[in-house]
Amino acid sequence: MIVVMGAAGATGGATLRSLTALGVPVRALSREPARLAAALDAPTLARTELRPADAADPRSLREALTGAQQLFLTMANGPQQVRYELDVLEAAVDCGVRHVVKVSAPAAEPDSPVAVSRGHHLVEERLRGLGPTATVLRPYAFLQKLLLLAPGVSAAGVVHGAMGAARCNYVDARDIGDFAAAVLTRPELAGGTYPLTGPRAYSYPELTYLLGGLLGRPVRYLDLAPAELRAHLVHRAGLPDWLAAHVVEIQQLAVARAETPDDTFQRVTGRTPRTLEAFLTENLPLFR
Ligand SMILES: NC(=O)c1ccc[n+]([C@@H]2O[C@H](COP(=O)([O-])OP(=O)(O)OC[C@H]3O[C@@H](n4cnc5c(N)ncnc54)[C@H](OP(=O)(O)O)[C@@H]3O)[C@@H](O)[C@H]2O)c1
Repeated sequence: MIVVMGAAGATGGATLRSLTALGVPVRALSREPARLAAALDAPTLARTELRPADAADPRSLREALTGAQQLFLTMANGPQQVRYELDVLEAAVDCGVRHVVKVSAPAAEPDSPVAVSRGHHLVEERLRGLGPTATVLRPYAFLQKLLLLAPGVSAAGVVHGAMGAARCNYVDARDIGDFAAAVLTRPELAGGTYPLTGPRAYSYPELTYLLGGLLGRPVRYLDLAPAELRAHLVHRAGLPDWLAAHVVEIQQLAVARAETPDDTFQRVTGRTPRTLEAFLTENLPLFR
């Protein structure tokens, strides 16, 4: 049995859909399985066994992981993320899970400039020392997160950032799901560490130019100092301070380390990853 954590979220949801589309039965975990069930389409639901699980409740984890051979592990960012992921790994080992696919992030290093990535490093290291086969996915920024820019674009035609002209390797979460499904169903792929990017990297000036062309009206990029962006995200966009700090760190990382597309996705799946143009076109009504 394959167990998918975070099945109501971006990568877990995509992995659940990709696996069930291949005809693979999945056990999907959520703190609120009824809410998850309501969000799933009928074909996905038909192949999905829903179970409640809360990383803050070790007993629920053990119940949910009993009988699992493989685990897709993703967890929402937050102050408890590392502890939650380590607890999930401990429960997985106790339950005899043989393969774990963990969603990590770029720059997962002990002295990473991104605090969340330092946390991912800790979890990756723990996973590699535990016994089950450890597969690590290191996707770059999800295209889906660009939807957070939609209110500013539709209200004022403005995108705020602190990346200057640095480029970002946006990847579609649905491609992460397709990749995870490949790794979970093709044993020869298990055990690797895989960077995941889209087919080309975009800067904010390039992205706003593209979006303006699709909308038929200009969209401006307003480049702020990192501290200004953090204040904007907290006071205008309503993000908690830790999340605003994380967004700023990610953008500073893109400035410090040039992001260029990687061909891992194409080599493994045999197709080109989804593009920014296609994603924006699909979601254009939200930016109008
Ligand atoms: N966003 C990006 O651009 C980006 C880029 C690279 C890497 N990443 C990494 O991707 C990961 C996030 O992936 P994602 O976007 O798929 O996650 P997400 O959608 O933010 O959240 C995934 C799930 O975490 C579950 N969750 C939260 N607290 C939980 C708890 N106490 N017990 C059990 N489940 C819990 C929630 O499920 P329920 O509410 O249903 O319980 C939620 O659906 C992070 O580790 C992040 O660092 C993100």
